[in-house]
Amino acid sequence: MTTLALNNVRPYGEDVTNILIDVTDGVIDAVGENPFDDADEVVDCGGNVLLPGLVDMHVHLREPGREDTETIATGSDAAAKGGFTAVFTMANTSPVIDQPFLAEAVWTKGQEYGKCDVYPVGSISQGLKGEQLTEIGLMSRSGVRMFSDDGKCVNDPQLMRRAIEYAKAHDVVLAQHAEDHRMTEGSVAHEGEQAARLGLRGWPRVAEESIVARDAIMTRDYGGRYHLCHASTEGTVELLRFAKNQGIDVTAEVTPHHLMLTDEKLATYDGLFRVNPPLREARDAEALKQALLDGNVDVVATDHAPHGSEDKCVEFEHAKPGMLGLETSLAVVHRIFVESGEADWRFVAKVMSERPAEILRLEDQGRPINVGEPANLVLVDPQSPWTAHGDEMASKASNTPYEDIEFSARVVGTWLRGTQTYDAKKA
Ligand code: DOR
Ligand code: ZN
Repeated sequence: MTTLALNNVRPYGEDVTNILIDVTDGVIDAVGENPFDDADEVVDCGGNVLLPGLVDMHVHLREPGREDTETIATGSDAAAKGGFTAVFTMANTSPVIDQPFLAEAVWTKGQEYGKCDVYPVGSISQGLKGEQLTEIGLMSRSGVRMFSDDGKCVNDPQLMRRAIEYAKAHDVVLAQHAEDHRMTEGSVAHEGEQAARLGLRGWPRVAEESIVARDAIMTRDYGGRYHLCHASTEGTVELLRFAKNQGIDVTAEVTPHHLMLTDEKLATYDGLFRVNPPLREARDAEALKQALLDGNVDVVATDHAPHGSEDKCVEFEHAKPGMLGLETSLAVVHRIFVESGEADWRFVAKVMSERPAEILRLEDQGRPINVGEPANLVLVDPQSPWTAHGDEMASKASNTPYEDIEFSARVVGTWLRGTQTYDAKKA
């Protein structure tokens, strides 16, 4: 057995301890008061914070089809650098992930590269056309745990009803991108004062909320496990509260950008700030933050959406929607919740690792830092200032909305089943 000691760590930001990893089996072999100095490899972690590896329910790795903007390999690098050990990559690639062999190819590529477990999301409708359902049963048998037409909404209520019934029968998660497309035609920004001032066509809150309300009621009546992608409005938070209070099986995610940024950013007409759903107002961001704190929103997911500069450095209306997220999300969540004193590292572990793993029923992710558990871990230095720059990202793309923003928390190292997938010292 080959061993690795992570000495002088603070699991969940609490008391200092020492961890011994069995690298051969990829599990935590011992946790103890005294440093493990006899291990094959010994790392002094300087009292940094140790968390379970992060799990991102929502990324876009663009392979197959747009390998010029991101690949499973570069996306895995970005994930490892951001502290992630598992990501779920959406089906809106080219071709769309709507058949078992395509889903299997994504998983296999991720495993071959080995930096992060890359779980494929299967599409709900064939070709994301919103017409025919995919073979949810066949794909679930080849290991697909979540289905989504993300990028597009399953608008047709009859198709959604049947998707819910099939997803229930196969016990998989349905993830909805809630956007009534009839209400958002041509819109590029949140409908409100800012869009009016800038002369941009607006996407009203109701375009999201009406779908959330409908889906909650469908889930009440037809069952299944419903997950809402990128909740973005105060009203959505109220609807989630209503649904959860009724015992309806809905979960929801919020992105770091909907927590930290608002449509005030659009004043420069910089295409970097175009995203779906759009950046909203301060009261929406505040409601989402409170909802994450009180559990009405379950998890943080990045919606990491790489785009080339030819699609971002253009007039606002022509910019493609989407922002990078994997390499900045932990720093953003730390800034909003930990630095502000509103929550602790246990909370971060819950919303970025434990809850997503639970929702997707991953048995080897989001686990407690204990003997016998898989060594999926991230080491974080909470006081290591750094500044975000798009051109320094591990991602192939550089469309970060946090350009020139200084953060305090930095990922120092990431381990997947005991193997180091990111090392800040070597980066
Ligand atoms: O901004 C977004 N970009 N929202 C989505 O729903 C899709 C994503 C993408 O694929 O670029
Ligand atoms: Zn989406």
